[in-house]
Amino acid sequence: MSAVTLKNIVKRFGTFTAVHRTTLEIPEAAFVTLLGPSGCGKTTNLRMIAGLLDPTEGEILINGKRVNDVPIHKRNLGLVFQNYALFPHKTVAENVAFGLKYRDVSKAQIAGKVRDALDLVQLPHVGERYPKELSGGQQQRIALARAIVIEPDVLLLDEPLSALDANLREDMRVELKRIQERIGVTTVFVTHDQSEALAMSDLIVVMSEGRVEQVGRPEEVYNTPASEFVANFLGASNILAAECVEHGKAVVLDEATFGRVAVPAARAPNLTGTGKAKLVVRAEKLLLARDPAPEGVISVPAIVGTVDYQGQAVRYFVRAGEAQLQAINMIDERPFAAGEAVHLHLRPQDCAALPG
Ligand SMILES: Nc1ncnc2c1ncn2[C@@H]1O[C@H](COP(=O)(O)OP(=O)(O)OP(=O)(O)O)[C@@H](O)[C@H]1O
Ligand SMILES: [Mg+2]
Repeated sequence: MSAVTLKNIVKRFGTFTAVHRTTLEIPEAAFVTLLGPSGCGKTTNLRMIAGLLDPTEGEILINGKRVNDVPIHKRNLGLVFQNYALFPHKTVAENVAFGLKYRDVSKAQIAGKVRDALDLVQLPHVGERYPKELSGGQQQRIALARAIVIEPDVLLLDEPLSALDANLREDMRVELKRIQERIGVTTVFVTHDQSEALAMSDLIVVMSEGRVEQVGRPEEVYNTPASEFVANFLGASNILAAECVEHGKAVVLDEATFGRVAVPAARAPNLTGTGKAKLVVRAEKLLLARDPAPEGVISVPAIVGTVDYQGQAVRYFVRAGEAQLQAINMIDERPFAAGEAVHLHLRPQDCAALPG
């Protein structure tokens, strides 16, 4: 059974539709991420699950029960928001205990549960401190402890790491994932950060303009994007106009640039037949080389344009015939320079194809 179900959900604010008819199943104990650009409706969906917003149409089910008319405090959910501030005049322990206040839990039990929650977020000794005496990352851990102390059926997290600096953010995502796995709580996580989504999720729900574009495991949405939007949002892709000439084997002809590309059928699930198609070439699968490629690898000549250093990798903008392409390659001892003539290597099995 799904822990959370959105059934034909629509959300309108006045005449503006923030969420178009959406149906979504969140499996029990899964870590599911709503991923998409600003304004695509992630928070709106989360707030409807939480009971902070009423859907205009449709039903929300938690553990199989319709909750449209169940108020927030009766839904047994844990919430952490980007700036869900702790109560500044309460101690950390009082903050964590707050969620238990309206529950039938004795004082002694509360102390034990607060201790367990602080242990879980690895801050066992800060119970007597006040929030302002903690770092941003520590405060977010306390917010998480407050959300999980009630043993929620579902944990709802809206960009909980976005206020943290880059290094801390990476540590916290490992930590958050560890805690989620440890307690096995169904989690709906909202982010617009694709690397966060790829690293943490069992399932990613890619959203655009109030619609679900694709639902899949991280490697699925990454390797087999269902749309041009998904291909571009998860990493950088080159998308080339092409022609499918042999459906079933999904052989795609992109005459101008790469010629005949035998895309595996599994990487083109939405191609329904021969005819117009789009070839998706991920920037990190396009390799610049000094020599032509070995047998079985496509090789085309190109000229390097802009070179953009990114630390461990370089982003090259190259011209191959009429096409402007981007390639992201790991840095080797001698990176390529602007103006240099190179060979672009591409393995057909690394490509995906979309309907044209
Ligand atoms: N209370 C409201 N009244 C009117 N429009 C709203 C309201 N809340 C959200 N919207 C609009 O609905 C759309 C979706 O908003 P939402 O907050 O769900 O986006 P989001 O995906 O969470 O974006 P972000 O990544 O910026 O947080 C936006 O266009 C927003 O302006
Ligand atoms: Mg939001």
